[in-house]
Amino acid sequence: MASPKERKRPMGEQLYPKLEDLVARMRATGEFAEQFLTAEILRRQVLADRAVILPKPPNKYCTASGPILAHVARRKTRDPTVQELAQVFVDPALGSNGVMRCIVAQLIATTPPNIRLFAITKRLGVGSVLISYDFRPVTKRVMGVEEWRARVGLGDRLPDSALPRSHPNPRDGERWLYLQF
Ligand SMILES: CC(C)(COP(=O)(O)OP(=O)(O)OC[C@H]1O[C@@H](n2cnc3c(N)ncnc32)[C@H](O)[C@@H]1OP(=O)(O)O)[C@@H](O)C(=O)NCCC(=O)NCCS
Repeated sequence: MASPKERKRPMGEQLYPKLEDLVARMRATGEFAEQFLTAEILRRQVLADRAVILPKPPNKYCTASGPILAHVARRKTRDPTVQELAQVFVDPALGSNGVMRCIVAQLIATTPPNIRLFAITKRLGVGSVLISYDFRPVTKRVMGVEEWRARVGLGDRLPDSALPRSHPNPRDGERWLYLQF
């Protein structure tokens, strides 16, 4: 039972050191948008049940022992029915073992049914896992991406690859928008 003093501390405060350490390792990859990469943003996502972290913590207010080795989250957009599957990270210590598929599957399974997900990635491996969960790479041939961008408030984060009217054909290293169908 938490003491009255402990109860006054911000919820999930003990997550900070682990999330700060995770943020530093994520930042070092150079793969993530800086404006969303803070321990506070990650903490809020965890407390709102919009993130999956490994090792699985006993509850959402603390972490298992040792560093966080894998992370993926859902980020809200301007449209309450659309969220971004974002910040997919698997520590090299666990890499190439299907862990990304595992955490992405868990995040999708715990997403409310009224939410449609999208993701932006330049990693074909991430795209291939998303495609196996009914996401598709998107261009103007697939849908009206500019209207969609305005609706979700994506601004200048829309990948250039989404603008042509050609058939989607992602290559590794190119930024692509993947939308859940
Ligand atoms: C990218 C990252 C999340 C991958 O995690 P991982 O658990 O090591 O992923 P895996 O190596 O198990 O590969 C995942 C899948 O991609 C597939 N894959 C890998 N490279 C591929 C390629 N070039 N083309 C198609 N599929 C590919 C693998 O076959 C695997 O599929 P499977 O699960 O069906 O077997 C991890 O390396 C990482 O965190 N990197 C640094 C941060 C980053 O780049 N994050 C992504 C930002 S969008």
